[in-house]
Amino acid sequence: MKDCVELLLNWYQENKRELPWRMDREPYHVWISEIMLQQTRIEAVIDYYHRFMEKIPTIQALSEIPEDELLKLWEGLGYYSRARNLKKAAQKIMSDFHGEFPKNYSDILSLPGIGEYTAGAISSICFDLPEVAIDGNVMRVYCRLHNLDWDVSDLKVKKEIGKRIQEILPKESGDFNQGIMELGEVVCIPGGAPKCDECPLKYHCLALLNGNQCLIPRKVVKKEKLEEEYTVFIIRYKNYYALHKREDGLLKNMWEFPNHERFLTFDEVKEIIPHITSIRMGITNTHIFSHKKWFMSSYVIEVDQKNNDYTWVTLEDIQENYAIPTAFMPFLESISK
Ligand code: ADE
Ligand code: SF4
Repeated sequence: MKDCVELLLNWYQENKRELPWRMDREPYHVWISEIMLQQTRIEAVIDYYHRFMEKIPTIQALSEIPEDELLKLWEGLGYYSRARNLKKAAQKIMSDFHGEFPKNYSDILSLPGIGEYTAGAISSICFDLPEVAIDGNVMRVYCRLHNLDWDVSDLKVKKEIGKRIQEILPKESGDFNQGIMELGEVVCIPGGAPKCDECPLKYHCLALLNGNQCLIPRKVVKKEKLEEEYTVFIIRYKNYYALHKREDGLLKNMWEFPNHERFLTFDEVKEIIPHITSIRMGITNTHIFSHKKWFMSSYVIEVDQKNNDYTWVTLEDIQENYAIPTAFMPFLESISK
């Protein structure tokens, strides 16, 4: 494995892509890029990154940006809580760290929206701190090199890989972490077509030796749950109700009342929905799909501010212009009376 570390660092030096956030090691640049890169492809991120830096060049500017401008810049990237957390984190940096991006792992990890992966990436890339950054690419490359058919969706597996990589991490931790990610993105790619003939580690790879590279990581088919519980939020602001467009899964792209998996308590709802002035239990509903059953309970909530997570529409507008799935119709009817 020592040889592999050396080979990987050399390969990265020669082959790394010139990406706009790699022009320097400024934590603000690396931070924004890492957040954008979560769930979004590199090619798609580049334009967003340029626009973002043009409009919001500093942490202070980010801490002061009006939310609608921020969300506009984020439009299309999806997962808007990422953008909102960026601003929250910038505000925390202004108030708790004198406006300067923190330089140690635990302070970085304390920022909203920054988990272990992102904290490790920033710590290593910007400061060469001895921290690992384990994402799906890293796990795939590691498991293939060692011919391990582990289930990489298991958090215990992620932990174990992190521990093992920690032990071989060179002092150039930033280049190493980026190198192994980059190898996973351009050479040791997912699915059945890793480019082993181009791979700097091909003479060390046990999956290749055994012809297993396409079988790793193992595909684990999740058992589908047949029964699910949801809490539905009927949120009212003046004459407007909050609607939300489903981004994936069953009922994709349909409009619905905002909701959350499992049954939530009052206190949990207050954590999730901001600006509540009153809240009470609403009706319940059971909806049976062909292969699934939803148990739905609801809260009727009044707020004194419109939250940009949602689309706000009047009852008449909902009834005339929005396709509400049958599962949610009883809730609509309950407020139409
Ligand atoms: N994917 C996400 N972050 C990356 C980085 N810093 N280098 C290469 N690939 C990445
Ligand atoms: Fe991945 Fe193939 Fe390289 Fe092994 S030899 S690390 S499977 S690209």
